[in-house]
Amino acid sequence: MLEVNIKPVSMIAGTGSYLPSRVLSNFDLEKMVNTSDEWIKVRTGIEYRAIVEDGVITSDLCKEASLEALDEAKVLPEELDIIVVGTITGDVKFPSTACYVQKKIGAKNAVAFDLGAACCGFLYGISIADHMMKSTRYKNILVLGGEILSSITNWKDRNTCVLFGDGAGACVIKRSDGKKGILGTYIKSDGTLSELLTMPGGGTKYPDPSSVPDEKMNFINMEGREVFKHAVINMTEAGKLILKEVGLKSSDVDILIPHQANMRIIEAVAKKIDIPKERVFINLNKYGNTSAASIPIALNEARKEGRIKEGDICLMVVFGGGFTWGSAVVRF
Ligand code: ACO
Repeated sequence: MLEVNIKPVSMIAGTGSYLPSRVLSNFDLEKMVNTSDEWIKVRTGIEYRAIVEDGVITSDLCKEASLEALDEAKVLPEELDIIVVGTITGDVKFPSTACYVQKKIGAKNAVAFDLGAACCGFLYGISIADHMMKSTRYKNILVLGGEILSSITNWKDRNTCVLFGDGAGACVIKRSDGKKGILGTYIKSDGTLSELLTMPGGGTKYPDPSSVPDEKMNFINMEGREVFKHAVINMTEAGKLILKEVGLKSSDVDILIPHQANMRIIEAVAKKIDIPKERVFINLNKYGNTSAASIPIALNEARKEGRIKEGDICLMVVFGGGFTWGSAVVRF
């Protein structure tokens, strides 16, 4: 096993994910907007996305992902100290979706709160959880990313509607055994670029959906090319920086779990960090971009498919609205 000079304080003891069973294919989208399966596949790598049935809400998806993660970690809901949900599509404006998850799983002893960092919500949550473990006596933290992006997608806009999907992913963080665990995290943001990826409607600026200057403002608005450029630069920087900080090289990474937004972004980032294709986990084709849920869903699938073995070094990199970005290195 690779020697690492860092003694982790917390570790990922269980993961879970949940995807709605209703599937929307590129061919379905061809009937909705002026697009083609070929364009979507070539430009993004996406073929399908999972979309919730009417009436299903974010905490429902989070509950299912949580139960799988808790079961694997052998942690009871009442043993949870904290529940953090990364989301931009919570059940209601307030209270937090984390409180609804707390109620649904019966985690009566936890403190529950949401984290709004767009696609980075889960990874910011991991970073905060690790630091909470370092500074408190807490033993068990549940970190989630859960989104129903279909609820804020403009289904008439071909620039964005082909990209997004729904889902949730979870992980249970416990105290480390001293070997396995979170070796380091890095999180960053740049608010000067916030307008490039935003949903202006529904906040205090435009509380009434009918008062927005343009009805598109009630949905995800994105300057795709700019987001693409910054995503590549910042995910690369985040990946390299955290590897350096924990004293590892790119050749030490057994698996890269990148934010699943666009295949071309993933390929560019992996190349720049110098991680070969075989060591990059991709499920983007099946689910599209599920924002904060993207990394925990991918992490759970990678583990359950046997792509992550005992002792493996996993690098996660993410980028999203804010702009926000970050990375984490974990030994499993
Ligand atoms: N089908 C067919 N044509 C399309 C479609 C579509 N679905 N969407 C756009 N086009 C057209 C455009 O209109 C344009 O046509 P024109 O040349 O006649 O003007 C042409 O295709 C090229 O458009 P670009 O925007 O330049 O296409 P690009 O190659 O940049 O791909 C994309 C667009 C996929 C959105 C890409 O820019 C991207 O992935 N950006 C990053 C998205 C991302 O990573 N988001 C992450 C964060 S999301 C979050 O935080 C919630």
